[in-house]
Amino acid sequence: MSTHALLVLYGSQTGTAQDTAERIGRQNFHFWANYPFNMSPLFVCATTGQGDPPDNMMKFWRFLFRKSLPADSLCRLDSAVLGLGDSSYPKFNFVAKKLHKRLLLLGANMLLPVGLADDQHDLGPDGVIDPWLISFWQKTLSLYPPPAGLAPLREEEKLPPRYVFHFLDEVPDKQIEHLQTPDNKAPPTPLQPFPAGVVFNQRVTPPSHFQDVRHIEFDITGSNIQYSAGDVVMMRPCNAAEDVEQFCQLLKLERKSYPFKLCVALLPVAAVPAHLPQPCSVRFLVEQFLDISAVPRRSFFEVLTTFATNELELDKLLEFSSAQGQDALHSYCNRPRRTALEVLADFPHTAAELSIDCLLDLFPDIQPRSFSIASSLLQHPNRIQILVAVVKYKSMLFKPRKGLCSSWLASLDPSKGDVYVPLWVKEGSLIFPQDPDTPVIMVGPGTGVAPFRSAIQERAAQGKMANVLFFGCRSESKDLYFRSEWEEKVQAGQMILVTAFSRDQEEKIYVQHRVKEQSKLLWDLMAKKNAFFYIAGNAKQMPASVCDALKEVFQKEGGMSENQAQEMLDAMEKAKRFQSETWS
Ligand code: 2AM
Repeated sequence: MSTHALLVLYGSQTGTAQDTAERIGRQNFHFWANYPFNMSPLFVCATTGQGDPPDNMMKFWRFLFRKSLPADSLCRLDSAVLGLGDSSYPKFNFVAKKLHKRLLLLGANMLLPVGLADDQHDLGPDGVIDPWLISFWQKTLSLYPPPAGLAPLREEEKLPPRYVFHFLDEVPDKQIEHLQTPDNKAPPTPLQPFPAGVVFNQRVTPPSHFQDVRHIEFDITGSNIQYSAGDVVMMRPCNAAEDVEQFCQLLKLERKSYPFKLCVALLPVAAVPAHLPQPCSVRFLVEQFLDISAVPRRSFFEVLTTFATNELELDKLLEFSSAQGQDALHSYCNRPRRTALEVLADFPHTAAELSIDCLLDLFPDIQPRSFSIASSLLQHPNRIQILVAVVKYKSMLFKPRKGLCSSWLASLDPSKGDVYVPLWVKEGSLIFPQDPDTPVIMVGPGTGVAPFRSAIQERAAQGKMANVLFFGCRSESKDLYFRSEWEEKVQAGQMILVTAFSRDQEEKIYVQHRVKEQSKLLWDLMAKKNAFFYIAGNAKQMPASVCDALKEVFQKEGGMSENQAQEMLDAMEKAKRFQSETWS
C-alpha cells in the first residue's frame, strides 16, 4: 500500500490559483484518502503586480530564500511548480520561475518543467493548465501508482464534501449572528479584526456627478492600532441582506438562524477556516464568509454538475465544466460579470439539490480588501479615514454590476444606529523619508490622493513642510476632494498644490501635463534637494505617462539624453526615491 500523498500548496492573490489548486485537489482525491507519510508538494502560485509573490505566500517565500538553508534541504523531494500569470506584464510568471529554480537549487526533483499559465492565452489560463496537468498526472501515476482497488475519481462522481455541518440545537439563536468582539490586548489581525465603529460616511461628489465617492471615518479607540502614512487598512466586506435571503431561498436553507459547528470530514486535507467563528449560524456564514457575488470559476460548475438531476441544466453544466466549454463559460460568466448567485438563479433545480455540506467546497471565502489610509493619527487620533470610489458599472446584463466592498461600505449608515466594520492594518508599500528637510513630490489623481493626504497630514504635524501634491480630477466643482483642507495647508505654507482638471476645458489636462509644466520646480527639488517622488492611483495609462513626463523633465532641465533620464529614474527607484502604488 502506498504511503505517498500529494500536497497542493497555493499562493493566491485574487483566488484563481486557489481555485486551480482546489481543482487539482479534487482530481487527486484518492491520493488524499491515503494518509501521508511522504508528501510531494505541488506549488500553484500566482505572480502579482511588479513580479511579487501573493501576500499569502510571503512568509513561505522569505523562509525558502533564506541564505542559511542548506543546499540539500529538499534532497530528492518530488515537486512541481504551476505558475499563473499574465504575459502582458513585464515580469511574466516571475514567482513560479524563481520558485522552480530555487527548489532545484535546494535539491528537489522537479517532475516537470515549470507550467506557465497565461491570462492572455486564447483559452485563458486553462489553455495551459489542462495539458500541463495531464502530463503531471501521467508522471505522478507512473511514479506512485494508486494502491490496488483505488483509482483517481471519475469526473461525474460526487466528491465527498470537505466539511460537515453539525447543527447544535433545535432552536434558532439570535446571539450567534453578531460579531464576536475580540479581547484586544494586541493590535488586530486577520483572525482577530477590530470592530471599528463607523463615525461618518459622506459622499464627497455631488449627486449629479457620475461617481459616488465616499469619505469614511472609523473609530479605532481601544484597538491598539498604530499606523503611519502609506499604510493600508484591511477589511472583509459582507454580502447584501437581500442577496443572502435570495441565496437561502434558492438553496432551500431553512435553518438560517440555527447554530452549527463545522467539522472536517476529509482528513488530512482541510482545516476549519480559521477566521470563521465557531459555532455560527448559516445566515452568518452566508453573509460574512461565502463569496456568492464573485464571478464563479470552472470548479464551481464542476461541483454543480455532480448535483444536477435536471437534464437541461446538467447538459449546460457539463459543457461549462469541460475544457472545450471554456469559451462558452467565458461568454456566459466572465464577459457579463455574472455572479455565482445569478448563476444559481439560472440553475434553480440544481441549486435546490445542493447539500449544505458542500457550501465551502463551492464558494471561496470573501477575500479581504485593502484601502490606502487617507488620514494621519497625528491629525486624527483614534481614527482611520479612507476615500472610496463606489464601483458600479453596466455589463450585458440588465442589473448594474456593483463592487462588493465599496457598495457594502456605501450602505453603512451611522445615523441609523451603531455600525461596525471589522478591520486590521497592514504596512503599505509607500515609505516616506524621515529627514524633515527631504521634500516629497506626490502625484495622486482621483482616489490615488488617499495615501498622500495621510502623508501630508503626518508630515505637516511633524513640521515637514516640503510637500508638493499634483492632483487630477475631472472638474474643479465636482471631484476636487478635500478642497478646503488643501487651501488651509497651502495658506499655512505646508504644501504646494498643483491641480489638473481634465474636463473643465476643451482639451484634456492631466497630471502629467502639469508635471512637465513644473519642470523647473521639480528639477530643483529632485536634483538639488534629493526629493522623493511618488505616484498613486489607477493603473491604466497614468503611471506610465507620469514617468514619461518625469523623464522629459530630466532631459529638459538636466540636459540629459533619453537613456540618461531613464538611468536617473532607475537609480531613484533603486534608492526608493521613486515609488508607486497603483491599482486597477
Ligand atoms: P478623464 O476621466 O477626464 O479622462 C481622476 O480619475 C482623473 O484622472 C480624471 O481627471 C481623469 O480624466 C484622469 N485620467 C484619466 N486617464 C488618465 C491618464 N491616462 N493619465 C492621467 N490622468 C488620467
